[in-house]
Amino acid sequence: MYIKGVGMTKFGAQTDTSQELVYQAVMEALEDAGMSMNDIDAIVSSVVDTSSNGERQRGFSSILSSIFNKKVPIITSSAVCGGGGSALWTANRLDYNKVLVVGAERLLSNNSFIITDEILMAAERIYEQSEGLIFPAQNALVAQQYMLKYGATTDDFALVAYKNHQNAFLNPKARFYKKEVTLKQIKNSPVVASPLRLFDCSLSVNGGAAAVLTKDKTDIEIAGSSLFVDRLSTFESEDMTSWDATRLAAEEAYKQAGITPADIDIAEIHDAFTPVELISYEDLGFCNKGKGKEMIREGMTNIDGKMPVNTSGGLKAKGHPISATGISQIYEIVKQMRNEAEQRQVDNVRYGLAQNIGGAGSTVTVHVLRKVGG
Ligand code: COA
Repeated sequence: MYIKGVGMTKFGAQTDTSQELVYQAVMEALEDAGMSMNDIDAIVSSVVDTSSNGERQRGFSSILSSIFNKKVPIITSSAVCGGGGSALWTANRLDYNKVLVVGAERLLSNNSFIITDEILMAAERIYEQSEGLIFPAQNALVAQQYMLKYGATTDDFALVAYKNHQNAFLNPKARFYKKEVTLKQIKNSPVVASPLRLFDCSLSVNGGAAAVLTKDKTDIEIAGSSLFVDRLSTFESEDMTSWDATRLAAEEAYKQAGITPADIDIAEIHDAFTPVELISYEDLGFCNKGKGKEMIREGMTNIDGKMPVNTSGGLKAKGHPISATGISQIYEIVKQMRNEAEQRQVDNVRYGLAQNIGGAGSTVTVHVLRKVGG
């Protein structure tokens, strides 16, 4: 299918409900598409059935029907942090002409303890949850292995955070828009789970994002769309430093698009924790195994580098409202392809890649967008 319009709320600490976030993102996407809700044939949404944010609201598909006064097929496709990508993957396979995809989360209505516990439910129940293996701790284990195996350092992780904060500084929709962050501040931030510090972790925020897909040709084609699922626990992997679902999803998406990793001009990568961005460079085929650290050291993924990554600021500094994240990645790539990214604009973007991950490598979607005629 093709992408006709995109919309997203600012990612932040606003007090809007999930329903209001959905409404704002959808209205912007429809306006961008030059359409109204009357034009939409089906909707795919993504939201985590959170009970701790005070909303106590399940049956999200019917809620969407009420908000938009629409009686069409509406399905909810949830894959925790990978929910947005999963909704897009689903929408792209539906046999309807115009499909709306939307993801939203009101995460920040609680203190971090409750949010962390909520997110922990996406970890394996017996071995991980009972050991208190929260996501920063799971990813710290991955980071330790990665450092041991390939000689990456905490300075490399800090460079990822610094790059993404610099990009978010330029993005009005990012939580950390116009917030100055220095490398020293990143390196001296408190340890959350060794070796990961505060600035190695993604930022929990509220937000919504939406996209309108059509079968009619537009200027942006979904050239590759893949989803792979792997085990829930990181330690079940033979090699914690390579995430099979990313590798498989990337191979499949490149094959569908008829391209190689070298053709990608920009990428939005699921930097839930800074080492995940480096591991993803490798699993997406942008460099050989263990060479992700060289890419960041050499500035290759900086906004003025050979292949900019996370021009939006990424999960690290734009923010990570779980189910909205995967669709917000598409928003950024579309803005870049249409030369609407203002201060973050990268020249001549023909191919853009979005990688969205649920869990620590458990569900991965990879989408490749192609600028038609670009
Ligand atoms: N990066 C940079 N700054 C952050 C931050 C982050 N990830 N998280 C919070 N902050 C800042 C806040 O803006 C706040 O700054 P202020 O005092 O200037 O307003 C300060 O740190 C304290 O915020 P608070 O929310 O109390 O932080 P916390 O210590 O309770 O939580 C983490 C920090 C890292 C534990 C939390 O952000 C976290 O768990 N992140 C990962 C979320 C996750 O696992 N998502 C799923 C991924 S798959």
